[in-house]
Amino acid sequence: MTKSIYACALLTLGAILILSACESEQVVDDPNPTPQVEYVATDADFVNFRNWSVVKQLSKALSEDGRAHTDAARTIWIKQANATRSQNGQYPNGTILVKEVQGGYGIVAMVKRGGTYNSNHNGWEWFHLDSAGKITQRNSSNLCNNCHAQVKSQDYAFTKN
Ligand code: HEC
Repeated sequence: MTKSIYACALLTLGAILILSACESEQVVDDPNPTPQVEYVATDADFVNFRNWSVVKQLSKALSEDGRAHTDAARTIWIKQANATRSQNGQYPNGTILVKEVQGGYGIVAMVKRGGTYNSNHNGWEWFHLDSAGKITQRNSSNLCNNCHAQVKSQDYAFTKN
C-alpha cells in the first residue's frame, strides 16, 4: 500500500515536470512574435536627406542593368546606415531610401511602411519629393511595385543589399 502511494506520487511529479517542460518550450519557439508597428512617414522624415549615408552614386549615363528610371547621374541615400534585412528577408518598418536624379527627373523615395499597406509588395510606400525634400506624392503605385519586384529577393531595393 505505501509503495503504491509512492509510485503514485512519483507519477504525478513526473507528469508535472513533463507538462512544465512543454510549457517553457512553447515560450522559446513562439511562432508569432510581436508584429512590427506600421510606419507612416511625414515630411519630417526626409529632412536633410542629402546628409544621409550614400548607398550608391551612379555617374554613368546608363544604369548598371538598363532598367533605371533615366540615364542621368543619380545618388541613392539610406536613412538608417546600418539597416539589414531580418530573417524574413525584409528591412525593418521605417527604413527609408531616397534617390535623386539630375536633369529633371527629380527625387523619389521608398519607405517600408508595413502593417497591411501594399502587403503584396512587402509593405513599401513610394514617394516623389520636391528639391527641399517635401512630399509631393505618395502611393502604392504598380509602376514602382512591378519594376522593383525584379529584386524581390533584396526586398525591392536595387542598390542596397
Ligand atoms: C523601369 C523600372 C523602374 C521603375 C518603374 C521604378 N524604378 Fe526605382 N529604381 C530602378 C532601378 C534599376 C534602380 C537602381 C538605381 C539606378 O540604376 O538608378 C532604382 C532605384 C530606386 C530607389 C533607390 C533604392 C533602390 O532600389 O536602389 C528608389 C527610392 C526608387 N527607385 C523609387 C522608385 C519610385 C518611387 C518609383 C515609382 C514612382 C520607381 N522607383 C519606379 C528601377 C525602377
